[in-house]
Amino acid sequence: MINLAILISGRGSNMRAILKFASKKKTINPVIVISNNHLAPGIKIASKFGIQTEIIENTKDQNVYDKKLLTTLKKYDVTPKNGLICLAGFMRILSNDFIKKYKNRIINIHPSLLPAFHGLNAQKQAIQYGVKYSGCTVHLVDSGIDTGPIILQAITKVDEHDNIVSLSKKILSKEHQIYVRAIELFAAKKICIKGRIVKINK
Ligand code: GAR
Repeated sequence: MINLAILISGRGSNMRAILKFASKKKTINPVIVISNNHLAPGIKIASKFGIQTEIIENTKDQNVYDKKLLTTLKKYDVTPKNGLICLAGFMRILSNDFIKKYKNRIINIHPSLLPAFHGLNAQKQAIQYGVKYSGCTVHLVDSGIDTGPIILQAITKVDEHDNIVSLSKKILSKEHQIYVRAIELFAAKKICIKGRIVKINK
C-alpha cells in the first residue's frame, strides 16, 4: 500500500478523480491534500471525501516552503519509502533538494503531449501552434519543468472548431483517466524506471 499526498492549487478535478478511484482500491491510501492556496475550490472537495487538508501558503523563499512541506509530509507518514506525491494542478516549483529526497516518488499531470508545450497554458500553446492532436502526460518530476520521465500519455484530437476551453475540457477528461491508471501502476510496483525511460511491467 502507498500513502498518497495530493498537492493542489485550484479546482481539484484531478484530485477528485484520484480520491474517487482510491476509495475503491486497497493499495492506494490518500492521507493528505495540501494546497498552497487557501481559496482553492479543491479543498472543500477533499473535505467531502473525509481526507485531511493542510494549507501551506506560498512563501518567497523556496527552502522555507519546502521545509514546511517536508514537515507536513512526515506528519502524515508520506515518506520516500512508502509514499507518492501527486501534483494535481499544483502551480509551484519544488526545489532540487526536495525532488532528490523523494526521487521517483513525485508525479505530475500535464495537459499536453510532452515534450511539446511544457510550462503554463499548454492548451493555449497547442491551439496557437495549430497542432491536430494534443493530449496529456503523467510524468515523474525531475529538476526541470515538465521534463521528467514519461509514465503515460493519452491523445486528444484537435478539431477545427476547438478553442482553448473546448480543448481543455477534452484533455481534462483524459487526464482523469490516465492519472489514476499511473497511480494504480505505481502502487502495484509495475513501473520500472531506467534513466529517462519508464517501462510498464505486465
Ligand atoms: C490540469 O489541466 C492539469 O493538467 C494542469 O492544471 C489543471 C488542474 O486542474 N496542470 C498543469 O498545467 C501543470 N503544468 P484540476 O485542478 O481540475 O486538476
